[in-house]
Amino acid sequence: MRFGTGTAEGGDREAGATVFVTNCAVCHGATGLEGGVVGPSLRHESARMDYGALVSWIEDPAPPMPQLYPKMLTVDQVRDVAAYVESL
Ligand code: HEC
Repeated sequence: MRFGTGTAEGGDREAGATVFVTNCAVCHGATGLEGGVVGPSLRHESARMDYGALVSWIEDPAPPMPQLYPKMLTVDQVRDVAAYVESL
């Protein structure tokens, strides 16, 4: 796993919530707090990964989490959804 430097530009949490519902909820639950059948709950994820680390993880996650960037997500969407997850 590769961790970011935390220098990424901040994302938009509100836009990230929409990105989450479309791309992440199928595995992590509707809001990310619940957790899903496949993915863990992301409650208090900010205690495990800071914003930069989250951006790096979403861009290049470890299996079984799928790599959605850059095919499904733009760099802005990655930043937005990272900002959303940081708020959980
Ligand atoms: C196909 C199912 C799937 C999708 C879609 C998915 N994930 Fe995951 N995700 C996982 C699984 C499974 C893990 C656990 C990986 C592990 O434990 O190594 C994980 C782990 C994570 C973690 C690390 C959790 C921890 O233990 O610290 C984060 C953060 C995360 N996902 C965020 C996201 C975000 C944000 C999206 C949408 C952009 C997303 N995931 C989409 C399945 C998925």
